[in-house]
Amino acid sequence: MQVSPKIFYEHCYGRYAIPAVNVFTMEQVLGLFSSGEKANAPFIVQITPAARNYAGPEMLIAMIKAAAKIFPKAVYAVHMDHGNEEHAFDAILSNDYQSVMIDASHDSFKDNVKRTKAVVEEAHKKNIVVEAELGVLSGVEDDLSIDEKYAKYTQPSEVQEFVELTGCDSLAVAVGTSHGAYKFSGGDGIQFSILEEIQNRLPQFPIVLHGGSAVNLEEIERINKAGGQLNEGASGVSPEEIVKSIAYGVCKINIATDTRLLWTRVHREFFRDTPELFDPVIPGKTYVAEYEKFMLQKFDLLGATGKV
Ligand code: G3H
Ligand code: 13P
Ligand code: NA
Ligand code: ZN
Repeated sequence: MQVSPKIFYEHCYGRYAIPAVNVFTMEQVLGLFSSGEKANAPFIVQITPAARNYAGPEMLIAMIKAAAKIFPKAVYAVHMDHGNEEHAFDAILSNDYQSVMIDASHDSFKDNVKRTKAVVEEAHKKNIVVEAELGVLSGVEDDLSIDEKYAKYTQPSEVQEFVELTGCDSLAVAVGTSHGAYKFSGGDGIQFSILEEIQNRLPQFPIVLHGGSAVNLEEIERINKAGGQLNEGASGVSPEEIVKSIAYGVCKINIATDTRLLWTRVHREFFRDTPELFDPVIPGKTYVAEYEKFMLQKFDLLGATGKV
């Protein structure tokens, strides 16, 4: 069943968080839906512009619709992640999304407000909710690389005005996380003092945490033992930080990197351990199973298990 993230957020605020996971492949869609149904947990399926370029928007939506039939008890929302106006308006017109993100966070405050407001006006005509972003995450967002030194935390003094002017339904904030497997290379984890100030100025307003992957060191080691060459300085958001952020109004935790690391580990081990095989179904099945296991643990950590 498709549910608006607005309803998810009203229910979870301050108590638990909804994982929002980026999907690119059929195995990921299967693993996500089967885990959500098994855990009786709400989740958000995210589609990025990169995923649309890879699989095609029609393919992604068709896979999601098929998964919803295979797992009829799954309770989920479909979200356009890191869109510009073109992606957002296309998503709104398609009627396939309950939620869109307009990411104008690299623009000036004024332009961010203007661009976000235009998307909100269209989206709200169809009861589609809008996630906006204020502040700039360091690291890599799709093909865009921003130097660590240009990273800008969200300014708490701006959040109230931004939300009032734009009418957005949730706010992605830059409070120390970044995308990818090398978070916190120069920083000190999540800045809870900033999150607290944001919450004081936006009480009960849903906050989104991008860059929510844990980057489990054990996965990195397994990948490297199977021929990978990932830098062991890789690091992510700790389980303690994730759990702590929920009390500060974080309702949606974005995850992509962890599922890519899992894919890499499963496939590298398959090639290393069974060099005589050449069947994509075999590692594919392992990946779906490992993905499901990963998500079941994530639902537990976020407190989302049993919430539907
Ligand atoms: O929306 C997410 C971007 O595609 C970045 O994800 O940091 O896992 O590469 P990533
Ligand atoms: P990770 O790189 O931590 O998985 O973050 C993903 C994300 O924020 C997608 O929008
Ligand atoms: Na998003
Ligand atoms: Zn993101």
